[in-house]
Amino acid sequence: MNLTLNHPQLISLAAGFTDHETLPVMELRAAVNQVLNTRESALPALQYGSTEGSGELRRITAARLAAQDTAAGGTVSAYPADHLVITNGSQQLLYLAAEALCDPGDVVLVEDPTYFVFLGIAQSHGLKCRGVRMTEHGIDPEHLDRVLYSLRKTGGLRRTKFLYLVSYFQNPSGLTASFENKRQALAILRAYEQKAGHPIYLLEDAAYRELRFTGDDVPSALAVAGAAERVIYAGTYSKPFATGLRVGFGWLPDSVRSVILRIKSNHDFGTSNLSQCILAAALKNGSYDRHLPALQNRYARKAKTMLKSLHAAFPRAAQWVAPQGGLYCWTQLPRAIKTGPRSAFFRDALKANVLYVPGELCYADDTTRPKPQNGMRLSFGNASPGDIQTAIGRLGALAQRRAIN
Ligand SMILES: Cc1ncc(COP(=O)(O)O)c(C=O)c1O
Repeated sequence: MNLTLNHPQLISLAAGFTDHETLPVMELRAAVNQVLNTRESALPALQYGSTEGSGELRRITAARLAAQDTAAGGTVSAYPADHLVITNGSQQLLYLAAEALCDPGDVVLVEDPTYFVFLGIAQSHGLKCRGVRMTEHGIDPEHLDRVLYSLRKTGGLRRTKFLYLVSYFQNPSGLTASFENKRQALAILRAYEQKAGHPIYLLEDAAYRELRFTGDDVPSALAVAGAAERVIYAGTYSKPFATGLRVGFGWLPDSVRSVILRIKSNHDFGTSNLSQCILAAALKNGSYDRHLPALQNRYARKAKTMLKSLHAAFPRAAQWVAPQGGLYCWTQLPRAIKTGPRSAFFRDALKANVLYVPGELCYADDTTRPKPQNGMRLSFGNASPGDIQTAIGRLGALAQRRAIN
């Protein structure tokens, strides 16, 4: 992010920044005016709030979540708002969950590949990550079982605390987990609990759920029958609306709610009350929901530009996943072309003023398998369509040169 901010000539396909041009300026101006319009609405917004967050925003969020899961085909009655916490982006919830559930030396299961910033959280808590392979429907249940079995054999199961899944348009792979896949994952975790001697949670990170531009939504893991006591659901208003507001949320089982709130209270006493009030106003006056389809269309168009440019510029042997939502196009170059941060390819890309996330950063330090070294996470989130075309053209030319040599 710093490289992008400090080098305006650099085209960044790296940072998870959202689309700049469509940020909801008018919508937020109206919402701010609404909140600050009268002393009656302004004064509480400018005061401290509660650690768990605004009651109104939590009620709206709980109702939206239940409506989304129902519309996606899940059988849910309601998600009680008192299970919700409003956080400083969903990023804070990931940190809080790791801190609440784990001690240094514990084990966390992650997708292979996973959201590399989460790996940083795990590292800062002294956690060991074990990678679980992915299929096009989410993690590979057989491999999950095998990893848990090997942990059991080697004494690591007692230290295994949760499975972290980025279940919608995964960062970085772009893949979405099916509902059946989440159900299977929960059943497998449950089967190992007795031997582990404690619950093994599923932390479902749904950061990109609302950024779908094709296909149908999938119910969250909360909709799996009997699973709500094992699922922590991290959602956000940041990616689908205004990242600058920094408002995310979590649905927490009773067993972890009070400890997460205690830690959050030590961090910040609660998320910015003003941001929460502004967001609640935008949700209530309908501007959030009017903005969303425009944003989804914008990403659909930019994803199309990226795919077209990849087809035109990249070597035939390169492969990528066509995204149905989210911000990323996960691309593999021929195996001989290394893309890591110390590779000649990465250096040449920087010289050509293009930045991407090297794929190998998205794999946990799991010594039971080698890290693939030829991947790239290419984001169409922030760059303009013209810049996407230029940047992919430059990367493609570099890849073609190396594929020939
Ligand atoms: C997978 C994933 N989870 C969570 C986040 C955090 O987003 P925020 O804190 O803006 O909600 C990000 C941001 O890039 C992300 O990619």
